[in-house]
Amino acid sequence: MCGIFGCVSHEDVVPRILQGLKRLEYRGYDSAGVACVDDRGALSLTRRVGKLDNLLDAMRDHPVHGHTGIGHTRWATHGAPSEINAHPHTGTSGTLAVVHNGIIENHDVLREELTAAGCSFRSETDSEVIAHLVEQSYTGDLAVALRAAMQRLQGSYAVVVVDSRHPDLLVAARQDSPLVVGLGPNELYLSSDIPALLEFTRDVMFIEDQEVVVLEGGEARIFGPAGETKNRAVQHIDWGGDAAEKLEHEHFMLKEIEEQPRIIRANLALRAPGQSVAGATPLQADHLPEGLFDGLESLTLIACGTSWHAGLVAKFWIESWARLPVDVDLSSEFRYRDLLVDDKQIVVPISQSGETADTLAALREARRLGARSLAVCNVVGSTMSRESEGVLYTHAGPEIGVASTKAFTTQLLSLRLLALELAARRGTRSPAEIAIAMEQLADLPRHLEATLARAEEIREVAERFSSAQDFLFLGRGVNYPIALEGALKLKEISYIHAEGYPAGEMKHGPIALIDDQLPVVVIATPGRVYEKVLSNIEESRARGGRVIAVAQEGDQRVAALADAVLPVSDVSEELSPIVNVLPLQLLAYYIAHHLGRDIDKPRNLAKSVTVE
Ligand code: M6R
Repeated sequence: MCGIFGCVSHEDVVPRILQGLKRLEYRGYDSAGVACVDDRGALSLTRRVGKLDNLLDAMRDHPVHGHTGIGHTRWATHGAPSEINAHPHTGTSGTLAVVHNGIIENHDVLREELTAAGCSFRSETDSEVIAHLVEQSYTGDLAVALRAAMQRLQGSYAVVVVDSRHPDLLVAARQDSPLVVGLGPNELYLSSDIPALLEFTRDVMFIEDQEVVVLEGGEARIFGPAGETKNRAVQHIDWGGDAAEKLEHEHFMLKEIEEQPRIIRANLALRAPGQSVAGATPLQADHLPEGLFDGLESLTLIACGTSWHAGLVAKFWIESWARLPVDVDLSSEFRYRDLLVDDKQIVVPISQSGETADTLAALREARRLGARSLAVCNVVGSTMSRESEGVLYTHAGPEIGVASTKAFTTQLLSLRLLALELAARRGTRSPAEIAIAMEQLADLPRHLEATLARAEEIREVAERFSSAQDFLFLGRGVNYPIALEGALKLKEISYIHAEGYPAGEMKHGPIALIDDQLPVVVIATPGRVYEKVLSNIEESRARGGRVIAVAQEGDQRVAALADAVLPVSDVSEELSPIVNVLPLQLLAYYIAHHLGRDIDKPRNLAKSVTVE
C-alpha cells in the first residue's frame, strides 16, 4: 500500500521520481505528489488528487527541477483522498518534507502533543506527525532527528525525508514496511519495491526494521537503532530489462497471463540445469538449510487472498504425496489465535510480495513459538524471504497487475515441487513415481499454451455473460480452491459480485441463489469427482441456472449440458488446478475489459497490503 520513491543525483531527479512513481502506482492510486529541493535551494511541493497522470500534467505545466527529491503514490488509510492529504507532508516551517508508507497507530496522541507544542497540522493523515516530529527533533543532523522521531512512533512505516537545509541528502527508515536502496552509477535511490528501480539499476540493498539509511555523496550508509554502522551486502537483481514493462499488451494483467507458460518452463529449467526435469531432485536448486525437514510432523501454510488459494491446493498435494498433515490458514486469522505450534512443525508463508503485513506478523508469531519456516515468495530479498529459515522463490518476475495471475501459478509450481521433495525425502513415494511426476511438470507449459490458444473463445463467452450481476463458481476436490480463485479474480477487477463454493456444498445453501439470471461457472475436468460435478451441473440447469463449464477439450458430456464451455488441455487431475485457473483469469479479464474497468488498478485495491 502506497509507493514511495526518492533520488539523489548530480542530474535532475524529477523525471526519475515520476518514472519511479509510474512503476509504483499499482501500490496505490488515490493521489500522488513530489517534493524536491529546487534550483533555488527551496523545498518545492506538488501534489494532486487522483491518478498519477494528474500529477504528471501538473508538473508538465509547472516544471520543477532539483537534485534531491521524494515522491509518493497513496492508498488512503487515514483521511480521504484529497490534495491536502496527499504526500509529501511538510513540517510547520516548510523546510522539510516526508513520504510515508504504513500506519502510525499513536498518531492522535502525537498530533495532540505536537499541536500543543505549536505545530500546525494541515492534513487529516497519520503520516503528517512524522514531519512535525522530525522537525521538532532537528538540531543540525537529519538522521539523528529521524532516529529520535522513530522513538516516538508506534505502528509501521517506511519513511523518507528531504530537507532544503541539506540539498544533497536523503534520510530514510523502516519498521514493518518495505524499503529498498538502489545504487545507480551516478545516483542513489530509495523505493518501496524493486520493479520501480529496474530501469535505473539492478544493484540493491535491503533496509531492515529500525534502521536508518543516509544517502549522500554517492554513498548509502546504514545505521542501527543505536546509531551503529551496519554493513549490508549489495544484491544484484537479474530480472529482465523489460520485465516490468507492458510492451505491446493493453494491460499488465493480460501480459502476465500470457507469460505463464514461458515462466513455468524457465522456472523448471532453473531447477534442472543441464539435465532433464524428470531426472532432477525437485528442490535441488533451492538452497535450503540443512535439517529443515528432519523429524517434521506437520505443515501450516499461511497466506492471504490468491496466495491462500495456492495453499489450499497444496494441501491436497502434500497430504497425498508426503503423508504429512497440512493446515492452511488465513494469516489474518492465524495471527490472533491461541496457536498450537512447535518445532516439529514448519510454517510456510506464501506471498507474492513477501511483504503482506498479516502474513509477516503470522510468520513472526509462529517463529516466536518455535516453528521452523520456509517462505514461498516471488520478490527476491523481501522481508518474508529474509525472515524465514528457507525460501522457495517462485521466479515469476515482477507482477504489476493488482490481480495476481502468474504469481499464483508459479506458487503452485513451487508448492508442487515441495510436495514431491517431501515425498522423496520421506520415502512415501518411490523414485520412479517422483520422476514421472517431474516429467508431468515438464509437460505443463505445453498444456498452458494449448489452453491460452483458446483465448478468443473465452472472450466471446465473457462478452456474452458480462451483463450478469452475480456469478457462482463451483469446484470440487483439488479444484475447489480454483473456484474460489475464479470468483476472486472476477470480483476484484470487474466489481461483479461472485462467490466461490465447493460444489458438494451447493445443496446446503447456495442452490437457493440459482435462477436464470445467475451464471454458474463449474470446473468440470476429469477426476475422481467428475460424475458428482456433472450432477451439480444438472441440478443448476434444473433451476434455470446458466452453466459455463471449464472442461477438457472434446468433452462431449459436459458440452451437451453447459451453455458455454471454457476449454482446457487434457492434463492430469492433480495438475489440473494450474491449467484450469487460466480460462478463469481470462474470463475475469475479458468481462472487466468489456465493462471498461481499470483492470490493472481496480478501485480500492493495492498490490501489496503492507498494513493490517
Ligand atoms: O503479496 P501476497 O501474495 O502476500 O498478497 C496476498 C493478497 O493480497 C493478494 O493475493 C490479493 O488477494 C490479490 N489482489 C489477488 O489477485
